[in-house]
Amino acid sequence: MAHGTSGKAGLARIAHMDRIRIVGGNELNGIIPISGAKNAALPLMIASLLTSDTLTLENVPHLADVELLMRILGNHGVDVAVNGRRERQEDGYSRTIHFTCRTIVDTTAPYELVAKMRASFWVIGPLLAREGQARVSLPGGCAIGTRPVDLFIEGLEALGATMEIDGGYINATAPKGGLIGARYVFPKVSVGATHVLMMAATLARGTTVIGNAAREPEVVDLANCLIAMGAKISGAGTSTITIEGVTSLSGARHRVLPDRIETGTYAMAVAMTGGDVTLENTDMALLDTALESLRRAGADVSPTNNGIRIMRNGGGIKPVDVVTDPFPGFPTDLQAQFMALMTRSSGISHITETIFENRFMHVQELARLGAKISLSGQTARIEGVEKLKGAPVMATDLRASVSLVIAGLAAEGETLVSRIYHLDRGFERLEDKLTRCGAIVERISD
Ligand code: UD1
Repeated sequence: MAHGTSGKAGLARIAHMDRIRIVGGNELNGIIPISGAKNAALPLMIASLLTSDTLTLENVPHLADVELLMRILGNHGVDVAVNGRRERQEDGYSRTIHFTCRTIVDTTAPYELVAKMRASFWVIGPLLAREGQARVSLPGGCAIGTRPVDLFIEGLEALGATMEIDGGYINATAPKGGLIGARYVFPKVSVGATHVLMMAATLARGTTVIGNAAREPEVVDLANCLIAMGAKISGAGTSTITIEGVTSLSGARHRVLPDRIETGTYAMAVAMTGGDVTLENTDMALLDTALESLRRAGADVSPTNNGIRIMRNGGGIKPVDVVTDPFPGFPTDLQAQFMALMTRSSGISHITETIFENRFMHVQELARLGAKISLSGQTARIEGVEKLKGAPVMATDLRASVSLVIAGLAAEGETLVSRIYHLDRGFERLEDKLTRCGAIVERISD
């Protein structure tokens, strides 16, 4: 298997001690290809557990989280085939990968693996639907909040499953004859719980109606793939999803949708540095709210044939208030990046985080670069400064870490970002993509 960044060993291992060095001050100009969405690829890969046929996914981003999930799925009996160069796309980024789970050999997802990536908990849905049982470790704590699993438990219980917590694991058992379709309204919007309930319901007896479902594009992408596999699903993308259970699913070929968070991240980087960049293989419709906020901040945003052109030529960055919300609201996964942008605005802006209670760890690090930010509850008040100054900073989570890169691109002098394994979880070849547009960004291996 070819590896994008070094070709030596597993992404997660090699990147552990790496740092990113940025020399700020350059505009971004050029073309950035956008990868397949991590947050779609993960549930799509997990959907391969629902069928004994091959599920082929195109445009799978080359990321540490994807590699880890391949290992996790391998434990359950999924054969993963990456066909090297022949199957790679022209630009050499995302790949086509074949997943085949003839039989499920193990219905246990162990703590050591689930603790590394919360989304691996989602195997609980397909395992339960196909095998009638699953033993899955609780995900444990997470840097950006408590992130409980109550909604998964309640939702699967609604389909007739018995859910017992035992020694840090959930033992889930379907009734004899399999899960039973039901109506369930989520008390709170959850992307992961919507994915899981939708997957589980595809093989349940009868009809399931999910109310207050997440409307994220990744939910729609998963539904489209499941439909190609023979599932009967309608309403994905609205808050009511209806799934009519079928007895089995087949294989399919599906292309992972573009990564809207990566798209928004680079759009914010351009708004920050100034310049003119075309983001290719992506779609404005995936991130209307975030792009509207960027326009208000002073960027020009326009559609191209297969992507988005983003420009800021002269003119400063205007202060804009945002509040994160489930889709179609402003995504929490772009909150840190937008805050980085606002540190250089010409006034005072406020950013309110409503999805995760502890997602402001980037504030302290941005302050090291000279940002003026104060926190009051779930709201950050950002007073724009004339200039940021490079400094050593530490990545704390996936999206926070890229906000430091954005700030570093506009800071005077050198910024060194450590703990960048967080970045490798979610951004494919970040330094290549930025360097191609004129930034000075390099990976330093100690
Ligand atoms: C997904 C995304 C993540 C994004 C988040 C919100 C993936 C792999 N990850 O995470 O990048 O930031 O959506 O857009 O797609 N909650 C409960 N009980 C539950 C489940 C969730 O209270 O059983 C809470 C969470 O703590 C959080 C909120 O619901 O406060 C939303 O979380 P959720 O949508 O489930 O996030 P993820 O699916 O984990």
